[in-house]
Amino acid sequence: MKILIVYGTSEGQTRKIARFMEEVLQGGEHKVVIADATQDPPSPDRFAAVMIGASVHMQKYQSSVTDYVMRHLDSLNKKHTAFFSVSMAIASSIEEEHEDIKKMTSDFLARTGWTPDEVRHFAGALRYTQYDYFKKLIMRMIAKKEGGSTDTSRDHEYTDWDNVKSFVLNFCTESVASSTG
Ligand SMILES: Cc1cc2nc3c(=O)[nH]c(=O)nc-3n(C[C@H](O)[C@H](O)[C@H](O)COP(=O)(O)O)c2cc1C
Repeated sequence: MKILIVYGTSEGQTRKIARFMEEVLQGGEHKVVIADATQDPPSPDRFAAVMIGASVHMQKYQSSVTDYVMRHLDSLNKKHTAFFSVSMAIASSIEEEHEDIKKMTSDFLARTGWTPDEVRHFAGALRYTQYDYFKKLIMRMIAKKEGGSTDTSRDHEYTDWDNVKSFVLNFCTESVASSTG
């Protein structure tokens, strides 16, 4: 089965997750193509299943991902698809933060008209060493509020890789079932 993974990223964590997904699927009977949403990603037409990921910055996903979804809406809604959202809020111990990010995701999907078969939230990373002064300040504040690390001398990763792996394997099983089914 041919699978397309399109991602939007600002600091690289969603790319890392997309590449990990590709790695998990490699060696199986699937052919996987992975593409950055800003770099002219292929149309979903040639693929049986599509996963699209984006990260949250100031309560928004990358516009390149929104553009891609809108451009290929008809095709996406005819295929087996999943959306994965990467954020820090989902790593928070405060339930309200989870509800907020889930609401943001459903608003995004409602706005685009895309109805993916699966939606999954993954915790991202704090890449303090890559941020400029203001980003560091903002992220330290966000981290403080959400229970992330405020140690800005190094990066902190919150992604649960086992969770990503089980999601992607399950998505593929479901995709195969829906294509034969
Ligand atoms: C400037 C900035 C703003 C952010 N805003 C939010 C936010 O509003 N909500 C949230 O949950 N995470 C927020 N984050 C955390 C990112 O979603 C997290 O760092 C994620 O791993 C970024 O993924 P990426 O590296 O693929 O862009 C923000 C991060 C930065 C640097």
